[in-house]
Amino acid sequence: MPKITFLPDRRQVLVEENETLLEAIHKAGLYIHSICGGEGTCGRCKVAVKSGRYKTKPSRFISQEEASQGYVLACQTHPESDMEVEIPLESRIEGVYAVEDVALKSELRMYPEICSPISREIQLNLPPPSLEDNISDTDRILRELKREGYEEVKVGLDVTRKLADVLRENEFQVTATLGWEGNGFRVMRVEGTKSRNFGVAVDVGTTTLVAQLVNMSRCQVLGTKATYNKQARYGEDVITRMIHAEKGGLDELHQTVVKDINDLISALCDENGISPEEITAVVCAGNTTMTHLLLRVNPKYIRKEPYIPTFTFPSPVHAGEIGIKVHKEAMLYCLPSVASFVGGDITAGVLASGMAKEERLSMLIDMGTNGEIVFGNSEFLVCCSCSAGPAFEGGGIEFGMRASRGAIQRVEVMPDFEVKVSTVGEVKARGICGSGMIDCLAEFLKSGVINKAGKFNEDIKTDRLRKGSEGLEFVLVWADESAVDRDILLTQPDIDNLIRSKAAVYAGAKVLLDKVGFDFQTVERFYVAGGFGSYLNIEKAIEIGLLPDLPKDRFEYIGNSSLAGARLCLLSEEAFREAMEIAGKMTYIELSVDNAFYEQFISELFLPHTD
Ligand code: FES
Repeated sequence: MPKITFLPDRRQVLVEENETLLEAIHKAGLYIHSICGGEGTCGRCKVAVKSGRYKTKPSRFISQEEASQGYVLACQTHPESDMEVEIPLESRIEGVYAVEDVALKSELRMYPEICSPISREIQLNLPPPSLEDNISDTDRILRELKREGYEEVKVGLDVTRKLADVLRENEFQVTATLGWEGNGFRVMRVEGTKSRNFGVAVDVGTTTLVAQLVNMSRCQVLGTKATYNKQARYGEDVITRMIHAEKGGLDELHQTVVKDINDLISALCDENGISPEEITAVVCAGNTTMTHLLLRVNPKYIRKEPYIPTFTFPSPVHAGEIGIKVHKEAMLYCLPSVASFVGGDITAGVLASGMAKEERLSMLIDMGTNGEIVFGNSEFLVCCSCSAGPAFEGGGIEFGMRASRGAIQRVEVMPDFEVKVSTVGEVKARGICGSGMIDCLAEFLKSGVINKAGKFNEDIKTDRLRKGSEGLEFVLVWADESAVDRDILLTQPDIDNLIRSKAAVYAGAKVLLDKVGFDFQTVERFYVAGGFGSYLNIEKAIEIGLLPDLPKDRFEYIGNSSLAGARLCLLSEEAFREAMEIAGKMTYIELSVDNAFYEQFISELFLPHTD
């Protein structure tokens, strides 16, 4: 069996005959980009072979120059001897990285008194039993809880087993922790002293998972951690993962996301000096496919016409039942979805933006891979998904990446075509994230680097514009100034991808409004959500036609609204009930088979628009 050594980690694994380098990388516990799930069609799994024999298929993603330096696609390469293989920085999926949390003003505005946590502590001063008052210990607890306003309450067997001693040891002065179960409460623990009560909100994104630790008694956020969704090793978009689940990979996908969540929880606990046992509730917001995978339900019919999910309103489950390591009685709640391609993350976004409580007409645009849009107010809500593609999240873009350390997030092109960039963390550039790409398109258009059709202008005089293996390309950062020792650039196919994404979002929003007889002018507030990090230049998004040309003060960038909605539900049972109402009220409009959408999309393939 050939032994593969991966550099720079020097991790070693043995590979079976027929195994690819990509499979070997997974075996070694390393993570690299593999958007297409190993089909050889995304070009993201590039590695550099330093020594050894191998068989590889030629690929359009590997230029002649790269091939001469030993670059291959890991998924298309079979080792034939021991090898040394370097995984370049731009192919790696990093571990946990810090995300900046965008304060959600509307959340605070709409929920000034949000603290009625989904699992809460109640102080009980019980009268000790006597011959006259001789009901059972359990009934004594339930009677007192009823006086406090809790009618529907169950007591678990584990609590019952310890109850008699706990009550007597503490002279019937105890604290009960109640967990909401959707249609009532359950006593999760009874203790003598007031114990600590924490919860975790999780944004279960296709690309990134973000978890936030919350002190439930004080309604206080203690910390936030994020990690790339390691399911990406089975494909970076939901369709590839559904196919993997259908081919027998459901358990792998489920266990991978559960492990990611457990790792985040454990990191948050370590940092804050608490035990996972003190976490009494977990609220997750994810798209419909991710929610299915989290609960280990096969999502295979979601991608097949007529696109039916197995569920939209999942019941709360014991977190331990699906492998989440917190208090053994803790419940896990998933926000309800609307349809196959409008999930609990969007319900969370609508909740957090507050648009469902307002009279004024608002639109929520979530720039995730699906590109979901919701329009309405307290009276009605309509929504759609517009298959924007992962370009603004870095997918399908040669140097695309999420808004993490080293991502170019601001770009300015000077009159002489020199370029100024700034990166997340103000470090050397590693790639370019969504906000940087929006800046690029706007700056390229303004300075004449590209024309209205998004094609590079060959006549401009600068060595930054040159011919590459995929046509013209424009260098943003030269290799000696980058962190990856390669020129960081945008290619013509990158620009085409970005324009398709922006066209899909704008066309989706426009057609959604048309369907219900409104236009952009009638929308008083736009909430723009997405993983752009802390920065999104609204003006530039308008200049490229991603957002409608309206006064800037109508737009509010609300960052990760999925996490904000999950946090609200954690801290407020009322907010969770409202989330269920929102999901039940949203009317889904299917655009994938809609001619009007297709026509609008075609006319949006220009900067900013056809007219
Ligand atoms: S090309 Fe190798 S994973 Fe996509």
